Amino acid sequence: MLYKIITEDAWARSQSSDRILLSDFDSTFVHFAEEEDVERIGKDFFPHDSSLVVLTVDPSLLPGRLVKEKNPGGKKEYYHLYDGYVPRSSVVSHRTLSQCMKAVVVREYGGIEMLSYTEISMPNPGPKDFLVKVHASGINPVDVKICSGHLSEVIPVSFPFIPGVDVSGEIVARGAEVQSDLQLGEEVFFFTPLNLGGGQAEFCAVAAELVARKPHSLSHVEAASLPVVGLTVLQTLRDYASLSAGQKVLIHAGAGGVGSFAIQYAKHCGAKVFTTARQQNHAYVKSLGADVVIDHETEDFVEICQQAGGMDVVLETLGGLIYPRSIQATRDGGFVPCIVNPPDADSKALAEKHLITTDFILLTGKSSDLDTISSLVEQKIIRPTVSKELSLEEIQEAHRQLESGRTVGKWVFSIR
Ligand SMILES: NC(=O)c1ccc[n+]([C@@H]2O[C@H](COP(=O)([O-])OP(=O)(O)OC[C@H]3O[C@@H](n4cnc5c(N)ncnc54)[C@H](OP(=O)(O)O)[C@@H]3O)[C@@H](O)[C@H]2O)c1
Repeated sequence: MLYKIITEDAWARSQSSDRILLSDFDSTFVHFAEEEDVERIGKDFFPHDSSLVVLTVDPSLLPGRLVKEKNPGGKKEYYHLYDGYVPRSSVVSHRTLSQCMKAVVVREYGGIEMLSYTEISMPNPGPKDFLVKVHASGINPVDVKICSGHLSEVIPVSFPFIPGVDVSGEIVARGAEVQSDLQLGEEVFFFTPLNLGGGQAEFCAVAAELVARKPHSLSHVEAASLPVVGLTVLQTLRDYASLSAGQKVLIHAGAGGVGSFAIQYAKHCGAKVFTTARQQNHAYVKSLGADVVIDHETEDFVEICQQAGGMDVVLETLGGLIYPRSIQATRDGGFVPCIVNPPDADSKALAEKHLITTDFILLTGKSSDLDTISSLVEQKIIRPTVSKELSLEEIQEAHRQLESGRTVGKWVFSIR
């Protein structure tokens, strides 16, 4: 037997006929497959149709010439039928195919054992959304915090939940009310809202207004490393702290994802860049442009910053007990955007006393900021810092490593 996938519409249209007419698309290229490949092929060729019908067909009852494709790839067998219809009499049986995809799925909050790589229903894009075939998706510490439930009060998610907010891919469907000039087939990158996630999957539905063109010179893996860290840096150093030429800035955790982008951006602004890193990462952060590297295991960053006259800006990427010390390292009237937690009462009082502006900043998705990131990359001002490319099957290991707080640059999943 052979299997033919058609849309539910085509099936409905053929109910009163002895011929199942194939659409323009189908009539020039008809796919038959072994049953085990049906789901995958359906998804590849009809990514935006959530309801499909699989026909089991007796090939001896088909009209015309059935041509087996020469290079089907793997175990799949594709056949072409050029006659434009399938006789109803050749259909032995039919069944509805619910569209599935592979994704990282979390069904309840918990440790890394709650992360599975499995089949799940395709996303259902709304009228203002794009459906994107994901080619790469970055991983961030916030994924770990969301999946474990540590942020459940601030960023509640609904289950089953697909993590992943950094995406690069290709538009495969466009909602009827989308106003963007981005077209089907365009390569794009974006940041999805933290409570929705959805990036660590083969397909992702996203509000069109959040999506931007992928930088041409980058691979999907490189592009997927940028949205979270790039948006965070622009929205803290540019929008909150107005970092400018000649200023001194301390960037904590310079070897991390945010730090690696921030060092390059601060240098581009003309600032003198101080950063903290372990000895083994000193060469790396210097290669990104850091002027003064402080070994946080053996040196006191407050002392070094105060000796330099105090920082105009500190990018607080560590929080907790380091936060009040970062305020001590700042000159009167300076800025301390923190991306980990809000200031406690003592830190707030200390900042107020010294007229230091400080707050917790949470990034927001903005396609205009993604365009800025793209432009910085195309001008070679910022380079992506992917240190590890992995597959979604390795999701548990990726979370384990991120939890260690020792990863350098960005880790990105390549999705084929
Ligand atoms: N609010 C927001 O919008 C927002 C956005 C993005 C990220 N974040 C948060 O910001 C934090 C940083 O994110 P990220 O992606 O940059 O993390 P990351 O890539 O996981 O950071 C890892 C780096 O942190 C460094 N590090 C660890 N402990 C350190 C210490 N005591 N002093 C200096 N460096 C230290 C390590 O370098 P060494 O080995 O050299 O120490 C490592 O390379 C995370 O908590 C994340 O959730 C918030």
